Amino acid sequence: MVEVLVTGGAGFIGSNFVRWAHANRPDWRITTLDKLTYAGRLENLRDVMDSPRHRFVKGDIADAAVARRSCASPISWCTSRPRRMSTAR
Ligand SMILES: NC(=O)c1ccc[n+]([C@@H]2O[C@H](COP(=O)([O-])OP(=O)(O)OC[C@H]3O[C@@H](n4cnc5c(N)ncnc54)[C@H](O)[C@@H]3O)[C@@H](O)[C@H]2O)c1
Repeated sequence: MVEVLVTGGAGFIGSNFVRWAHANRPDWRITTLDKLTYAGRLENLRDVMDSPRHRFVKGDIADAAVARRSCASPISWCTSRPRRMSTAR
C-alpha cells in the first residue's frame, strides 16, 4: 500500500482529489488532514469516510505533532521530523 497524506482534503480541490484517488488508486491508503475551517466540510468526504482505505484527521498542518500523527506508516516519507512550519497568508 502507498500511504498518501492530503492536507486541506475537506475543501473543494482537496476533496475532489481524495475522491478521485480513492476511486482510481486502489493501492493507496489516504489520510485526509484538515483543520475544518469555514471552507472545509466533512460532507465533501461522505463517499470515502467509511472506507478502510481512508481516514480523516482533524488538525492543523502547521502543528508538527498533528502532522506526525497523521502519517500512518513508520516508513512514510512524512515521518521525518517537521521542524518549523509557517502559513502563508
Ligand atoms: N463549487 C465551486 O466551484 C467551488 C467551491 C469552493 C471553492 N471553489 C474555488 O476553489 C478554489 C479553492 O479551493 P481549495 O480547495 O484550494 O480551497 P478551500 O478554501 O476550499 O479548502 C481549503 C481546505 O484547507 C483546509 N485548511 C486551511 N488551513 C488549514 C491548515 N492550517 N491545516 C489543515 N487544513 C487547513 C480548510 O479547512 C479547507 O478544507 C478557490 O478558487 C475557490 O473559489 C470553487
